[in-house]
Amino acid sequence: MCPASGWLVASPSMTRVYRPRRSCLAVPGSSSRFLDKAQGLPCDEVFLDLEDAVAPTAKIAARGNVIEALNSGEWGDKLRAVRVNDVTTAWAYRDVIDVVAGTAANLDVIVLPKVTDPSHVTWLDLLLTQVEKDLGQPVGRIGIEAQIEDASGLAAVDAIAAASARLEALVFGPADFMASLGMRSLKVGAQPAGYAGDAFHYPLMRILVAARSHGLQAIDGPHARIADLDGLAQVTSSVAALGYDGKWVVHPGQIETVNEAFTPGAEEYERAELILETYQYHTAQEQRGAAVLDGEMIDEATSKLALATAVKGRAAGLVRTRRPDQPSTPQPVSASTSPSVSDSPDSSA
Ligand code: GLV
Ligand code: MG
Repeated sequence: MCPASGWLVASPSMTRVYRPRRSCLAVPGSSSRFLDKAQGLPCDEVFLDLEDAVAPTAKIAARGNVIEALNSGEWGDKLRAVRVNDVTTAWAYRDVIDVVAGTAANLDVIVLPKVTDPSHVTWLDLLLTQVEKDLGQPVGRIGIEAQIEDASGLAAVDAIAAASARLEALVFGPADFMASLGMRSLKVGAQPAGYAGDAFHYPLMRILVAARSHGLQAIDGPHARIADLDGLAQVTSSVAALGYDGKWVVHPGQIETVNEAFTPGAEEYERAELILETYQYHTAQEQRGAAVLDGEMIDEATSKLALATAVKGRAAGLVRTRRPDQPSTPQPVSASTSPSVSDSPDSSA
């Protein structure tokens, strides 16, 4: 199922509408067969690729395929993206101009690969603005996802994340990143043998922090071993737990596993909504900063945490099955239940 889009943001720092991106399917722009097939798949985002999945000799023809597929395809609620070639190539500017001019309202996002400097994003923002003005389209409608996939990109990630109001997400590119660092591995996304720690924790966390500090989503890159669904489930659950919003998929068989890993469980979702309602009641009706729900203290920080889960659940199409008989259920915090809170009723963790 492709969930409805348009929920407001999950994190207090997010300013753009939260569009679900649990699974982002890579579709080679040179393959009409894959462009057709992708339309019926249950991914949240499709990105039609003009970059690494397309051979240099097929680049120009792929532009036409992608334009045709976006204009005549049935994409449902999916977020429709195109990955253009990077700014150091001769193809990049015509990719943007031709695709935006050729698809009008049938394109939501440009994925910009190999972003090593904020000027790459500024270039794309300005070019999009020129094309939108020329076409009489609303300026700023088309969003940008920036791929961070080498040492320079990671070193500049904060400035990149701040480079344009069009940015919606930062995307980790493990294959190029591993090559850039000289990791001794031939398996994309797999831990390099011989290194005792988690080789991806630092780039993943660094990108997540930069994304969140600028109100953006964070997306993990591909898991190249298509048949390894157990491995995919494990790495996806791990990045979802860290806070990531989604992950690339390179094969239709990976979509379900990835959607599932990024969708909060039913109980977790119900609990998050209950926390929000309880907190709202106690702050608005009772003018209290904290309350106890099922023996657990909840306050502003708890409600922010609950909001992140609730928004992801709503965006994934979850609905409440239980209406609480609150607001009488939760108890206000008292000295006997939480001395530290009762000393300062409006304190938060
Ligand atoms: C994706 O573009 C990657 O390099 O992993
Ligand atoms: Mg790459």
